[in-house]
Amino acid sequence: MTNFKYDPKFYDLQINWEARLKKEIDFLLGIIKKNKIERLLDIGCGTAHHLQALSPYVEELVGIDPLKDTIAYGAKNVATAPNVDLRVAGFENLENLDIGSFDLVMSLGNTLPLLKTKRKVKLALKKCRKKLVDGGVALFQFLNFDRRMIEANTYYKPKSLKYKGKLYIFLKHFEYGKINTRADFLITELDPQGTVTDFWTNSSYFCTLKKNLFTKMAANSGYKDIKLLAPDGKEEFDHKKHISLYALLKR
Ligand SMILES: C[S@@+](CC[C@H](N)C(=O)[O-])C[C@H]1O[C@@H](n2cnc3c(N)ncnc32)[C@H](O)[C@@H]1O
Repeated sequence: MTNFKYDPKFYDLQINWEARLKKEIDFLLGIIKKNKIERLLDIGCGTAHHLQALSPYVEELVGIDPLKDTIAYGAKNVATAPNVDLRVAGFENLENLDIGSFDLVMSLGNTLPLLKTKRKVKLALKKCRKKLVDGGVALFQFLNFDRRMIEANTYYKPKSLKYKGKLYIFLKHFEYGKINTRADFLITELDPQGTVTDFWTNSSYFCTLKKNLFTKMAANSGYKDIKLLAPDGKEEFDHKKHISLYALLKR
């Protein structure tokens, strides 16, 4: 069973994709241009918005995600570009997939820590490296698991959105743990009279992937040139200041 359960239409509803991609695209295109990326793999691609946004700039793009419904939703509604190939698979299946090698392997939106244990994260880092061509680049985006940062952001500001005549309220809560950090996702559906008509709750357990732990595992997995960057992709990552980070690594 996957450690992340989210109806794809709700996942897309609670993310303002236009605003998010506007923030992220220059950084991603910078990596693509600098490293002359022709083949890209997005692991845990979710509803495939990054792949669709990058499809004009990369020859071939492959996206994998273990959630079948999410892949089906992404293929139908989002990643319509002919050079995007979506598959149902996760980090665990990487070596059995007949998808070739990549110039860029990326995993965005806190997907790597969803593997939950240090052992599985390390294995995934090794598997990703094997999928890279010589001189290839890996990019991971994940939360800053510094205790103070998680505790200062325990409750995310609720989001409320209207969809097909109903109001949806999205709540996110984090509980720091030394080994595993829990995230609770709650969705409440209300009709126009304000009556609750449905309610969903789900929790994910993340590996508490701190900066030093990640760097050590990445180096032990053979990566070189490990750079940790702020959410803007420009500044150096500071665990006292930034809520998330990008790790940019060379094979
Ligand atoms: C928070 S979402 C991020 C989606 C997208 N990359 C983004 O940035 O919005 C995490 C994604 O990781 C996927 N996932 C969960 N377990 C995984 C695994 N073992 N291997 C690869 N992806 C996984 C989930 O299905 C989900 O789509």
